[in-house]
Amino acid sequence: MAHFGEPLFEGTIMETTCRHVAIIMDGNGRWAKKQNQLRTFGHLSGSENVRNIALAANKLNIKVLTLYAFSTENWKRPMEEVEYLMKLPEVFFNRFIDELMREGIKIMAIGDLSRFPSNTQRVLLNAIEKTKNNKGLILNFAMNYGGRDEIVKAVIRIKEDLDSGKLIEINEQNFENYLMTAELPPVDLMIRTSGEHRISNFLLWQLAYAELVFTDVSWPDFSEADLIEAIRTYQHRNRRFGGL
Ligand code: FPP
Repeated sequence: MAHFGEPLFEGTIMETTCRHVAIIMDGNGRWAKKQNQLRTFGHLSGSENVRNIALAANKLNIKVLTLYAFSTENWKRPMEEVEYLMKLPEVFFNRFIDELMREGIKIMAIGDLSRFPSNTQRVLLNAIEKTKNNKGLILNFAMNYGGRDEIVKAVIRIKEDLDSGKLIEINEQNFENYLMTAELPPVDLMIRTSGEHRISNFLLWQLAYAELVFTDVSWPDFSEADLIEAIRTYQHRNRRFGGL
């Protein structure tokens, strides 16, 4: 395992730097069941691990860490589990916002927050406001997020701008300006934990040229060493972006 004093990146930094990492944090429920615990205990442990991996990513100089915290499909889960997931941001930020602030981490969110309880929205918006001038890692929570929903919402706004004459032509470059990730660099690496090999409606447009790494480790067990290993895997891949 690399220590933080040692160079993590091989080759030239410019070639290999991983600026934007996105993670599907899967396996909380199975992890809890294996220990005869409730699924909600898995989510709580998963949220504690968000803190660990955010601090590790910050130290590794990753610019953006986008985490799939709640998908547009997660509403189909039993009501008690959905309600628990709704309360997690409050528990998380009450415990960790001061530490994230000290580390210079900036909180962001993508997704449609309007369906969340007002308290959850308030807590999240407070964290975004409090950390808005921080210059470290951008910790971006995908909350009530779905890639298809994002694309449909982008198309609706594009139509409005075409109708009003604000937009004259649509192309790949300006389409991206209408996505929720418009301010962020492209996703370099997407990690999914817990052995599933699917994208599950996460960042559909943005993953077009990302490297994908799947690991059997459950999210609550996913460690700094696992993150480093995924980045090393990424570094050894030859990204050709469709060229030779
Ligand atoms: C998928 O695992 C995970 C989720 C649906 C929720 C992920 C949320 C967190 C890790 C906490 C987010 C933290 C904050 C601060 C918002 P699963 O439970 O579906 O796993 P399973 O496939 O084993 O059932």
